[in-house]
Amino acid sequence: MKKKVKYFYFGAIMSALLFAAGCGNGNESSSAASTTEDSGKQHTFKLAHITPTDHMWHQASEKFGEELESRSEGRMKLEVYPASQLGTEADMVQQIESGSIDFGLITAAYLSSRAPEFAAWFMPYGFKTLEEANEARKTDVAKEVLATVEGTGIKGLDYLFAGQRVMLFKDKEVKSPSDMNGLKLRVTPSPPMQDFYKSNGASPEGLPLPDVYAALQTGVIDGMDMDLDATITNKYYEVAKYGAVTNHMVWPAVVLANEAKFDGLSQEDQKIVHESLQAAIDFATTTRSGQEQEFRDELTNNGMTIYEIPSEEFEDQIKEFDHKYSKNSPLIKRFIETFRK
Ligand code: BEZ
Repeated sequence: MKKKVKYFYFGAIMSALLFAAGCGNGNESSSAASTTEDSGKQHTFKLAHITPTDHMWHQASEKFGEELESRSEGRMKLEVYPASQLGTEADMVQQIESGSIDFGLITAAYLSSRAPEFAAWFMPYGFKTLEEANEARKTDVAKEVLATVEGTGIKGLDYLFAGQRVMLFKDKEVKSPSDMNGLKLRVTPSPPMQDFYKSNGASPEGLPLPDVYAALQTGVIDGMDMDLDATITNKYYEVAKYGAVTNHMVWPAVVLANEAKFDGLSQEDQKIVHESLQAAIDFATTTRSGQEQEFRDELTNNGMTIYEIPSEEFEDQIKEFDHKYSKNSPLIKRFIETFRK
């Protein structure tokens, strides 16, 4: 917990410094607009995200930085601000909109409360594997969902996946949806995730990541929706006894950019950004896919009971989700029809 307090103070100081840099002395490389004549320009971009440094999203961010630097022959550099150092996801989106940071990895779950079409990604049991979801991001329908975030000075560049969602329980071995009846379960504040847990009979509590450990430890919640990666990096195994590896939803981050900054880059530099991102995203999917068993073993070795709940247990909940969200939006309907097999 001490570490989190430290991050908070550091984050507040960093936010103030970034704000001052953005407003004042012209951090030349990252705040000046570029034109097509500027292909030889130096850029030092800033990217923020909420996960700890051992989470795949941070590793992918570092890979993105390395790719930018090598593909631009040293002209582009990336400073990464992990672990909510710059605040909550809401704060980060605001900073991307204002241009005080250039890029952010923002959960599609959080964005689904601002841009409701992102709910499409949370169709339960929509994708069997991470690779399937990674391929799905290249389709027209996924790109149309991505474009719905635009309009307030931000641009959606791509999706980056972490492991699929699992369920952790403090002290009850939940084996079917009916066992969730009345349990207070943490979800990322996001309407589709809340709906899914309500359909299981649980009481979903929308809590941001930094508040989750203490809430489970003190019994404010009985369990949570999480991924295996963050279960390890945030040490939830210290406070949760049971882990149901349901893999019931995929977990995309949306790579956001400040629109004016991105559109102001030369065509050549935009291509470098896109290609560097693509390399980082593929690296993350390939690496993470190979870690599933290792992560299960690590949690077992840390004292958790790890087990599976068959997807057939959730047939009613899947139908309920598809029905409600297909009715809500033609784009979500198309998304579901494209990927539901
Ligand atoms: C979460 O809010 O559950 C979460 C956010 C980012 C990465 C992993 C988990």
